[in-house]
Amino acid sequence: MAFLTGEVTYSRGLEGVVAAITSIAAIDGEEGKLIYRGIPIELLAEKSNFEETAYLLWFGDLPKKDELENLKRDLVEHREIPQFLVDCLKGAPKDTHPMEILRTCVSMLGCFDPDKNDNSRGANIRKSIRLTAQMPTIVAYYSRLRRGLELVHPDPKLSHAQNLYYMLTGEVPNEEISKLMDVILILHMEHGMNASTFAAMVVASTLSDMHSSICAAIGALRGPLHGGANERVLEMLQEIGTVENVEPYILNALKEHRRIMGFGHRVYKAYDPRARILKEYAERLSREKGDTKWIEIAEKIEEVMIREKGKKGIFPNVDFYSGIIYNLLGFPKEVFTPIFAIARVVGWTAHVLEYLQANRIFRPRAIYNGPLDVEYIPIDKR
Ligand SMILES: CC(C)(COP(=O)(O)OP(=O)(O)OC[C@H]1O[C@@H](n2cnc3c(N)ncnc32)[C@H](O)[C@@H]1OP(=O)(O)O)[C@@H](O)C(=O)NCCC(=O)NCCS
Repeated sequence: MAFLTGEVTYSRGLEGVVAAITSIAAIDGEEGKLIYRGIPIELLAEKSNFEETAYLLWFGDLPKKDELENLKRDLVEHREIPQFLVDCLKGAPKDTHPMEILRTCVSMLGCFDPDKNDNSRGANIRKSIRLTAQMPTIVAYYSRLRRGLELVHPDPKLSHAQNLYYMLTGEVPNEEISKLMDVILILHMEHGMNASTFAAMVVASTLSDMHSSICAAIGALRGPLHGGANERVLEMLQEIGTVENVEPYILNALKEHRRIMGFGHRVYKAYDPRARILKEYAERLSREKGDTKWIEIAEKIEEVMIREKGKKGIFPNVDFYSGIIYNLLGFPKEVFTPIFAIARVVGWTAHVLEYLQANRIFRPRAIYNGPLDVEYIPIDKR
């Protein structure tokens, strides 16, 4: 044995490294395709809903009627959060980012979970469903407290997607917005071996618990290179302000080697299929609301970016058009990334459940490039 000091394959950012085998989802980065359990994302966005797609990701097949009804019932039943957490939300500093709140509250939910000392598959499935049911409530409650509004409690008559909109805005969504909320959640639910999913799996692989895994994933998703990008996209649109400003802004940013948020992807070197669907919804919603300013700026950014960077495989990703939709729906900017987490918890937990069936602890290595054979110098001689 020797110290690992070179002459091994090293992949910066684990690019191209295969860390697991999965049957949950797959991405064709060259063609811009995404499938969940073999079904193209476009079909699910058109025909399915949150509950059905969650079932598909967790259990491998689309549910039969009674299976779907059972899952819906379980999700509705667990929406409310312990009063202790509501009090924590009320006491939290109002400038806390909802992603910090979500991470903290998920950790606390672990203490209240009825299966907290049980790491069996059955308990982990129940925890997955409970976390999926509870996370929207945490985000919506805190978001309303932050805005000085009364809490809107979950409505058991509403679907998961409708209820999220209702708790955030206080209004029951119409059919069109209900469909859009389902589409948003379906498109964000799963994306293979991304940074936050890997973070969850690393924690789970030590045979730690589901809540710890999801806390790690929320922390990873928060970063602007991952789910945090959607919030930054809206900030960029606001900074640019007009269609005329787009060209100079983008060219200058690229000259300064700055990243344009909502563009680029480790795997997609073509147009992200999720962005294509969201763009259509963003266009339609902008027209319907009579507020086309942001979509016009965004489409101009896309044009300039594809002209400048398309050859390098840089295209809009899922975060580019979602912020415009959320803004038009009246959601405050700080809940954009939490909405991503509310959907992605299904993918995170599905991967943890899958990986634990043939678990092996994740333990990569690093090349050591520090000094060798260094003398120990006593403290009074340093
Ligand atoms: C997603 C992301 C982190 C992937 O990073 P990655 O796979 O490590 O890609 P790299 O950092 O190796 O970038 C490859 C090249 O593309 C450029 N690039 C990648 N994304 C870019 C962006 N958004 N804007 C401008 N240039 C970008 C890099 O500068 C680099 O150029 P170089 O080869 O001239 O140095 C990256 O594209 C990014 O930072 N995007 C913006 C944040 C974002 O939208 N994240 C959400 C992802 S869903």
